[in-house]
Amino acid sequence: MIGETILHYKIIEKIGEGGMGVVYKARDTKLDRVVALKFLPEDLLRDKTAKERFTQEAKSASKLDHPNICTIHAVEEVDDRLFIAMAYYEGETLQEVIDKGPMKIDEVLTITNKVADGLHEAHSKGIVHRDIKPSNIMLTDRGQVKIMDFGLAKSIAGSLVTKAGTTLGTIGFMSPEQSRGEEVDSRTDIWSLGVLLYYMLAGQSPFKGEYEQAIIYSILNTEPEPVTGIRTGVPVELENYIGKCLEKDREDRYPAVDGLIVDLRRLKKDTSKMSAAVSQITPPEIAAVVPETIQKPADRGSTTIVIPGKKVLLKYALAAVAVIALAFFGRV
Ligand SMILES: Nc1ncnc2c1ncn2[C@@H]1O[C@H](COP(=O)(O)OP(=O)(O)OP(=O)(O)O)[C@@H](O)[C@H]1O
Ligand SMILES: [Mg+2]
Repeated sequence: MIGETILHYKIIEKIGEGGMGVVYKARDTKLDRVVALKFLPEDLLRDKTAKERFTQEAKSASKLDHPNICTIHAVEEVDDRLFIAMAYYEGETLQEVIDKGPMKIDEVLTITNKVADGLHEAHSKGIVHRDIKPSNIMLTDRGQVKIMDFGLAKSIAGSLVTKAGTTLGTIGFMSPEQSRGEEVDSRTDIWSLGVLLYYMLAGQSPFKGEYEQAIIYSILNTEPEPVTGIRTGVPVELENYIGKCLEKDREDRYPAVDGLIVDLRRLKKDTSKMSAAVSQITPPEIAAVVPETIQKPADRGSTTIVIPGKKVLLKYALAAVAVIALAFFGRV
């Protein structure tokens, strides 16, 4: 494949592979720009209904024009190949970022907000993603957040590929209604966004299991361990927002993603204000005795100053007493 020219795309290198095909970096020789080509499974081409559904979905997804949604340039069919030409992004997937270790709460809030913004745009155009998960979110080197693979899950669902047993996406991010095989609406994306938020904060999935059926059982029946119990510095409000995304009955979830956007923005503002206030009242000599969790509230996005705030004051007082005592005894 490498070095081959398909239509006006010269394949440069393979950049990845998922359950729905292989992705190559290529040069669009007509427009002289780098693009990413996603080749879909050959089965899809043979299954007439699936192919039509795919083309239809790709058509609507290509109409989405939003800074947080991957731009689709074209859907092409040549010989026995069906592929999507899309913008090529230099960067890493959210999965790769999560794998490196704990993410800062502030960063988690920013990313979630951007993903939510992209989803809001799609939902307002009647498009549901259906496969929101860390490998479908790209963080570009230019600091952008891009949702990938819009509409693909719907195209593939029920096609020969799925019937043949290929895993469609990551089960752990599926909503209860999706895992039951029911019709889904935009609220399935709100659920998956809740799982994504939890996963970024906790570094682990809220619904675990050794095998697919066990994970599905967990999605349908168990309540996730509170994220506040897994790491420190998570605002209680954030835990509640995750809970509102992860309601098993979609009627109880945020009815639309803009509800979550408003909540997250408010939290981010409060967090920033709180951080600024703490850095003003914490001189460097006191900061040295303040534990790390409280020392960098901006990093940890901690509005949990409720309790730590008291600790800061206590440390402040203790440090002052120590300084006075040292001065006094130093003189004696
Ligand atoms: N437009 C793009 N620009 C740059 N890299 C991309 C682009 N699209 C995909 N990739 C890379 O290719 C990899 C494979 O993507 P792909 O969508 O095939 O797999 P996946 O997301 O892991 O699984 P799934 O098939 O379930 O979506 C991604 O993880 C990403 O690193
Ligand atoms: Mg993908």
